[in-house]
Amino acid sequence: MAENKVDSSEASVPFFRASLSEEEEKACAEVLKSGWLTTGNQTHLLEEEFAKKINSPFALAVNSNTSGMILAMEALGIRQGKAVITTPYTFVSTAASARHLGADVYFADIEKETYSISPDKIEEILKSPSGKNVAAIVPVHIAGNVCNMRRIMEIARKYNVKVIEDCAHSFPSRTELGFAGTIGDAGIFSFYATKTITCGEGGMVTVKDRQTAARITQMRLHGMNRDAWDRYTSPKASWEYDIVAPGFKSNLPDILSAIARIQLKKADLFYEKRKVHVKKYNEAFSKMDFVKIPPTSQGDSCHLYILRLNLSNLKCSRNEFAEELQKRGIGISMHFIPLFHFSYWKKLYPEFTSENFPEAEKKFQESISIPLWPDMTEEMTSRVIQAVEETGEKYHV
Ligand SMILES: Cc1ncc(COP(=O)(O)O)c(C=O)c1O
Repeated sequence: MAENKVDSSEASVPFFRASLSEEEEKACAEVLKSGWLTTGNQTHLLEEEFAKKINSPFALAVNSNTSGMILAMEALGIRQGKAVITTPYTFVSTAASARHLGADVYFADIEKETYSISPDKIEEILKSPSGKNVAAIVPVHIAGNVCNMRRIMEIARKYNVKVIEDCAHSFPSRTELGFAGTIGDAGIFSFYATKTITCGEGGMVTVKDRQTAARITQMRLHGMNRDAWDRYTSPKASWEYDIVAPGFKSNLPDILSAIARIQLKKADLFYEKRKVHVKKYNEAFSKMDFVKIPPTSQGDSCHLYILRLNLSNLKCSRNEFAEELQKRGIGISMHFIPLFHFSYWKKLYPEFTSENFPEAEKKFQESISIPLWPDMTEEMTSRVIQAVEETGEKYHV
């Protein structure tokens, strides 16, 4: 009978499941009933609550990290003739955002021991003749591990460039310099379906100064000087507005903001639950000689668990190991395919090769992301550990 069949393609421990409850459903239904679906009061409240949560002077809601990155770069002067420095070890949108604005991207390899951009490599670029075009450094806090922001900020001040933090993974990563996203000139968060808090699609830009906040506010909605909420609900309501620049359409609607507000309230609880799973994984994997536990940093949000294979103790490749985990019902992912593997970037920058970025390439060849989400049961984390152990034993040299 069809209903009794087990779908063998379905992972028995999924890579990710968002933690959603009746609270999110109710908040969403209330917005539908209110009749105001687009950006309005819910979004404004979300911005206030997010800014307060991470002590940021300004927080601006957007419909994705990607659009937030483009807006932040635009507001901070990234344009044709300028360049940004970022890491090849990221999701493509970090670098593509600069290309949307006509700017170049210079890549700095990651550190030997972590997945973070290397401050020494950043400085090498800034010291070189092409360094004069650089307008911003874009560190990416992979898996929630905060990059060496003390050094990056020192370098940025020395060479007079901006710092735009890609915080897609790093909410809520807190360091002695403050929360990730409040250290540089701008921080860009993601509320995508698999992130630490989610409303399906969405994001937040945090900035320090009023002028940058004002530019992003206008550019996220067609370059208008007044948004719809202001035009239709303020005491001086009027249909009139001006267009001050050719803007984008990147605002976050109230339906999604209402969901994000509930998720934000639960962010600390989610974080505590992820930390328990990470501790259990670390204890188990540190006893296995064919894997290395992930690096940590001060203020790690524990967004992803990237397991590193010790390939010298294994007679299989990363792909074979990953396939074996999948066969055992464990959902996996890869963070990240370095950007020099993609045809667009290879064609654009012929020097952008795995040989020139050995640390990024090495980490890619050794890494597999395994399930890490708040509502995983003890049984699920134990099944993941067992699958890793059995796979390691199968392929051990
Ligand atoms: C490091 C990083 N930056 C940016 C993004 C883009 O986020 P969004 O999907 O919200 O645009 C992602 C999404 O996966 C990411 O992992």
